[in-house]
Amino acid sequence: MADTQNAAEITERVRVRYAAAARRVQTGVTGSCCGDEKDVVSADIYGADDVAVLPEEAVVASLGCGNPTALIDLHEGETVLDLGSGGGIDVLLSARRVGPTGFAYGLDMTDEMLALAQENKAKAGVTNVAFLKGRIEDIPLPAKSVDVVISNCVINLAADKSQVLRDAFRVLRPGGRFAVSDVVADGPVPDALRQNMEAWVGCLAGALDVDEYTRLLTDAGFADVSVTITRRYTVAEAGLDPATLPEGWQAGDGKLASAFVRATRPANETREKAASSPVMVLRENVSSDGCCGGGCCS
Ligand SMILES: C[S@@+](CC[C@H](N)C(=O)[O-])C[C@H]1O[C@@H](n2cnc3c(N)ncnc32)[C@H](O)[C@@H]1O
Repeated sequence: MADTQNAAEITERVRVRYAAAARRVQTGVTGSCCGDEKDVVSADIYGADDVAVLPEEAVVASLGCGNPTALIDLHEGETVLDLGSGGGIDVLLSARRVGPTGFAYGLDMTDEMLALAQENKAKAGVTNVAFLKGRIEDIPLPAKSVDVVISNCVINLAADKSQVLRDAFRVLRPGGRFAVSDVVADGPVPDALRQNMEAWVGCLAGALDVDEYTRLLTDAGFADVSVTITRRYTVAEAGLDPATLPEGWQAGDGKLASAFVRATRPANETREKAASSPVMVLRENVSSDGCCGGGCCS
């Protein structure tokens, strides 16, 4: 976790970066999770069926690194919360899946992103959606009020991931599911890269190590934790300009990956029970050229 001053600086740099990203999308420039242009991380993450039911602008606004709505079965009538909802693509997809008796919330701290999401909501013509302003470290919803927490390429950006995971646990009902796409580190990332602000706002420096992710989820009270790596990439493929990075950044190549992270809030919970539940880390279906097999990206 970053110290308080660092945390405030990280949050502000992230906000400025994604405010600019929202403005670029509004002026017709294709987005990407990490860099300024469409990159390997954000390419081809939604299937044709998903894209077909959304306004084009919502698809263009996608800045994710996976498709969290494909990770889990969403049921009629459920309440879904998307942490760091950006232009709203995963909120709109969730709203369709939970139907008119369900509801989908998007939470984001960046005004420009919230404005973009509201425009996309209007174009999609959905009513069972609300976009909330706030930080994912301090979710403005009551305890035990949602069935599913999703997120797409956001938790890596947070300065205090442990707090994010604890607050996600708080708002989930017992038995609720956590289904997140995120950038993770699978192996040591050089300290110089970890400390680089450009690499942080570009989704790399803040990527949690896979083992640390599972530990923080377990500490927060989650059970059935699993991390599945779906796509590996180099620092340059993530859209960052190597010229802006510190010496030695090359040692981070191949350590950074997109992953599906799943967990549940136990239905009958005690912290001890959650802590003793199995943890799974899967590294199948991955190739290092940015393309994954086994249909995990389709
Ligand atoms: C990489 S974009 C992903 C957007 C969206 N999930 C998608 O898939 O298109 C990151 C988003 O998370 C938001 N964000 C980052 N850190 C946040 C935080 N601590 N609290 C709330 N929102 C945050 C940014 O404003 C931005 O909209």
